[in-house]
Amino acid sequence: MTTERNGKILVIGAVGQVGRSLTRELRARVGADRVVAAGRATEPPAELRAAGPFEKLDATDKAALDRVIRRHAIGTIYHLAAVLSADGEKDPVRAWTINVESLRNVLDLAVAHSLAGVFWPSSIAAFGPTTPRENTPQRTVLEPTTLYGVTKVLGENLCHYYFKRHGLDVRSLRYPGLLTYETYSGGGTSDYSVEMFIEALRHGRYTCFVRPDTTMPLMYIDDAVRATIELMQAPAQRISIRTSYNLTALSFSAAELAAEVARRVPGFVCDYQPNFRQAIADSWPRTIDDSAARQDWGWQPRVDLAMLCDTMLRGVADMAAKGVRL
Ligand SMILES: NC(=O)c1ccc[n+]([C@@H]2O[C@H](COP(=O)([O-])OP(=O)(O)OC[C@H]3O[C@@H](n4cnc5c(N)ncnc54)[C@H](O)[C@@H]3O)[C@@H](O)[C@H]2O)c1
Repeated sequence: MTTERNGKILVIGAVGQVGRSLTRELRARVGADRVVAAGRATEPPAELRAAGPFEKLDATDKAALDRVIRRHAIGTIYHLAAVLSADGEKDPVRAWTINVESLRNVLDLAVAHSLAGVFWPSSIAAFGPTTPRENTPQRTVLEPTTLYGVTKVLGENLCHYYFKRHGLDVRSLRYPGLLTYETYSGGGTSDYSVEMFIEALRHGRYTCFVRPDTTMPLMYIDDAVRATIELMQAPAQRISIRTSYNLTALSFSAAELAAEVARRVPGFVCDYQPNFRQAIADSWPRTIDDSAARQDWGWQPRVDLAMLCDTMLRGVADMAAKGVRL
């Protein structure tokens, strides 16, 4: 595994939804002191800071990033800092700066320091309304309608360019919508799925911001974290995609999810008031072909819809019992 042999690991965006789970898993695998968590939060969660090194870092500040890489002898970077789809439409300038400039900083410094590897996630948001929505192929039309999606297409091509031009071992996944009960940013389009569990337990009802028939690829966070680590562990000769791999686990509609929740939370009622995020969801695939990931490095999802619902409800209830407000 590149991450174990060559210096320490830096996780940028470690306080976010993916970052917290990924940091915890990497620390469990390679040792807490070998994984530096970084984020903009002045008060990072105690779990992150207590368990290993934490750096306050703005990834758009190249000099600061350079200092962190030197100070900790970083060998591999997982770069997760981003402004997500819904927030990106509200503040496109910020989305551009954070999503594009910080990635360029990471790639430039990875080359300058001859780092062993970089991971950077793309998204199903790289696709758009002209992309085939069923069984979306690995290589297909990429004409997104959100600025977030535009930054992901640009990022994918930038990663491909740095691999071809500089030989940088940069790898990427097009994450589907991700669910976790631990953190909730509210800046994405798949967030209705997470909100449904939270509101079901809190109020027994939820007003969903997409139509009941809205179907998109979704994945429990544990599968996404495992996919990320398995991709990074794969021998370089197995990696045939240097833009970003399609990745999928589940596809279900908002109504199907509501029915699963109602089976577990008696009396749960979901109603629907689509807002601006409906158009974003309508521009994304319904199902994804991830056969390249399966063939190249053996990707297999593990969490099915029933496991997802049971885990989310148990987790949200546990968080509430601990007094954590999502
Ligand atoms: N969550 C999903 O459903 C999903 C789906 C597809 C792709 N992704 C991608 O996965 C990655 C992580 O997403 P997430 O869900 O954890 O998002 P998130 O919003 O929960 O976390 C992102 C983190 O980055 C931090 N950040 C923002 N700007 C920063 C900067 N300039 N310097 C340092 N840190 C900064 C934020 O404070 C936040 O903690 C992103 O690239 C996102 O596009 C996420």
